[in-house]
Amino acid sequence: MTAKSMDELVALAKRRGFIFQSGDIYGGLQGVYDYGPLGVELKNNLKAAWWRAMVYERDDVEGLDAAILTNPAVLRHSGHEATFTDPMIDCRACKSRWRADHLDQQKCPGCGSDDLTEPRPFNLMFQTQVGPVDDGSSFAYLRPETAQAIFTNFKNVTDSTSPKLPFGIAQIGKAFRNEITPRNFIFRVREFEQMELEFFVTPGEDESWHETWVASRLKWWHEQGVDASRLELYHVPSDELAHYSKATVDVMYRFPHGLEELEGIANRTDFDLGSHTKNQQDFAIHAKVEPNKDTNAKLVMQDLESKQWRVPYVIEPSAGVDRGVLAVMNEAYRVETLENGSERTVMGFKPHLAPIKVAVLPLKRNHSGIVAKAKAIKKELQALGLGRILYEDTGNIGKGYRRHDEVGTPLCVTVDFQTVEEDGTVTVRDRDTMAQQRVPADTLADYVVANIKG
Ligand code: GLY
Repeated sequence: MTAKSMDELVALAKRRGFIFQSGDIYGGLQGVYDYGPLGVELKNNLKAAWWRAMVYERDDVEGLDAAILTNPAVLRHSGHEATFTDPMIDCRACKSRWRADHLDQQKCPGCGSDDLTEPRPFNLMFQTQVGPVDDGSSFAYLRPETAQAIFTNFKNVTDSTSPKLPFGIAQIGKAFRNEITPRNFIFRVREFEQMELEFFVTPGEDESWHETWVASRLKWWHEQGVDASRLELYHVPSDELAHYSKATVDVMYRFPHGLEELEGIANRTDFDLGSHTKNQQDFAIHAKVEPNKDTNAKLVMQDLESKQWRVPYVIEPSAGVDRGVLAVMNEAYRVETLENGSERTVMGFKPHLAPIKVAVLPLKRNHSGIVAKAKAIKKELQALGLGRILYEDTGNIGKGYRRHDEVGTPLCVTVDFQTVEEDGTVTVRDRDTMAQQRVPADTLADYVVANIKG
């Protein structure tokens, strides 16, 4: 089961503190969202799962955390200044602007007029002034993809880590696109986060690595709780490919608003490293043809057999963090009718993604023995390093369980009189089955690790 509509997810996200419209007390800022107390945990957990799979569980990938402000030369030589555009149409009647490829019919979605301009290219990159003088020449771009900083740091990383092909550089971070029509909640936004791997391979091995990464990324999304029935692969046709791509396979997900891209896996060949290399035609086949006179860099590696210096090819799995959050929230969402006819909303997150792993609830908030024991349990479980453990003394256990169902907390632990006066056991209540069992407090940590660790 998933949400019936985007509105259901938007309402839950606001009600429970996952996601808010940014600056909403001033009417908001279109296409910009803030992550609340639970949203930041969910998002961090998704990013941590990606980093674990892409960096820690491999020995051929290194991490990077590069700056957002980008020297315009980088994005000139990458091709983004010239080609990173969407087709824009203006409505002459109501002066609104639309993405041409988002119009179902040749009518303004705002006022219905058919008095529209021809499509014109609109560059999606944000610029900002750098330094105190605003003379129009000292500006930087807010990066439109994290990938370029991986390419420009290629030599820094390879000089400091001495890798052999194939190897990768991974990065998670913000990117910015001045979308003409941001829409569908956190799906199409102007400020967003990417999880990108640039995996460098020997030319000629690129196509088989491309297939390997498509399969690997599909498996990873399943492991985040995304059902295979709502995932599809889309082999992007050549006339839709980005300017750097030889082939791209999109992982498409059935979002509440329709089937759309969750992650793109591109074969970027030697285009990017080549275009950032001096005398690029000596080392790369697909690099931009005009000479790069702004750098002395040679972003090349030596082929150990032929001894030739060549720009490696690169396969790029590039996932949207916000789209990932939306997908796992949609997958987790379910409404159940209970035996007594009442309904409960459950966010059935995989435990490793759940914003709160365990809620520790004292049965009485004014009983010093129960409170002290509950706080000691919270401290002990928190020290396990599994993520957030919440001590919560609202005093109404039933309501606490329902609230934690709705935010996706896998386990609730209740400390009561039996714990402190009789046998030292606590009640552990399972989010999915609602089953409750008594577990000795002194073996609770093992129980939690066995049930929460993803
Ligand atoms: N790096 C690929 C993208 O941002 O779409």
